[in-house]
Amino acid sequence: MADMGFPVPFLWGAATAAYQVEGAVREDGRGESIWDRFSHTPGKVANGNTGDVACDHYHRIHEDVALMKELGLKAYRFSTAWPRIFPAGGGKLNRPGLDFYQRLVDALLEAGIRPLITLYHWDLPQALQDRGGWLNRDTARYFADYAAVMFEQLGDRVKLWITVNEPWVAAFAGHLSGEHAPGLKSWPSALQAAHHLLLAHALARGRFPSGGEAGKIGITLNLSPVEPAEEGEDARQAVGRADDFLNRWFLEPVFRGRYPEELLSLFSSRHGAPRIADEDLELMAAHPVDFLGVNYYFRALVRAPRDAESLFDTVIPSEAERTAMGWEVHPRGLYDLLVRLHRDYNPQLLYVTENGAAFPDTPNAEGRFNDERRLVYIRDHIRAAGRAIAEQGVPLAGYFVWSLLDNFEWAYGYDKRFGIVRVEPGSLQRTWKQSAFFYRDLIARGTLPD
Ligand code: FCB
Repeated sequence: MADMGFPVPFLWGAATAAYQVEGAVREDGRGESIWDRFSHTPGKVANGNTGDVACDHYHRIHEDVALMKELGLKAYRFSTAWPRIFPAGGGKLNRPGLDFYQRLVDALLEAGIRPLITLYHWDLPQALQDRGGWLNRDTARYFADYAAVMFEQLGDRVKLWITVNEPWVAAFAGHLSGEHAPGLKSWPSALQAAHHLLLAHALARGRFPSGGEAGKIGITLNLSPVEPAEEGEDARQAVGRADDFLNRWFLEPVFRGRYPEELLSLFSSRHGAPRIADEDLELMAAHPVDFLGVNYYFRALVRAPRDAESLFDTVIPSEAERTAMGWEVHPRGLYDLLVRLHRDYNPQLLYVTENGAAFPDTPNAEGRFNDERRLVYIRDHIRAAGRAIAEQGVPLAGYFVWSLLDNFEWAYGYDKRFGIVRVEPGSLQRTWKQSAFFYRDLIARGTLPD
């Protein structure tokens, strides 16, 4: 793989998240999460779908781990559901919930697959939401306590940890657009939630045992390289604001212990300043991450906003290919993003912790799923990542396709299918799509076809 630029070993993996795949929402003492509450609220999720059953991963880990082994995966990124461990957010540990993850980790290691755990992939215990959720500073402390228990209980076998997945989405989809749980719709709440999610990350990171033996810990951010769609000073300023909002709002605190100044003062004048203690930023600066997890789906092509309230407008060229999510397919963006992160923030290591695409899947006459477009999407993004390593020396150490399985795609329910493995509605039977065969061969051969 040296010619393609992938170092050996390289963590070829696949990713999922607890609420999107597990199901079994009332089993073994699991508490309610904000996504249970939200998905059961009429009108919030397409077709009234919920994660009650999802892929039934909870009952099928042996089947699913066997599938991962056949794929040849080197690593599996999954999230632990906080309300399985602490049904009320804090207090008494729920052993049966923890045991599920013990079994999963053991099965993975037995199959030679490295576990990468995400501690927060959006399923906040509802009991904490009832006390203000991410608007309440205490939630960050509860998170750190939960994280410390997980390090203690699983740290002997799990060596790669992610604190928080996509704080941008949790904050802004959850508290500004209201498309995600808990469904709030205001700037002040979104900005406060964003800060407390970062604080939760920093406190948990601070509780991670020091010394190489414990392994590595990082955070996963959804990031988009920003490019101008038009010329001129207004567009240039809009590009700056877009980059501050979409990327630097989280990168700057995590790597430099500060917020982007211009945007912070703009937000403060428009919406009131979020409560940010100096010590929070000092804490972030004091505990840099061991790696950065990058979720990349699309770039941001930006023009000056057409209405004065907006920070910027985004456009998609009319000739561009789009996924079923309406997202522009733009593999070069992953190259640009990785190179920029390496240049500007210089993390010791990077992982692409999510990348993939939703397309409608229809079986052919033999019942096979020839998901050519998904396959090409994945292939071209992997090629772009390889180029970033080979040409620019980006220290990329792994790539996780989103997703192993078709699953509960948040507000879109089961309509949007990201899996390289199909999950049949109703029977939940797993069927390999063409992209799964492609990924298996890529991992086995160690090189991309021309
Ligand atoms: C990301 C989420 C992941 C999945 C993909 C499509 O924002 O982290 O759970 O929904 O998008």
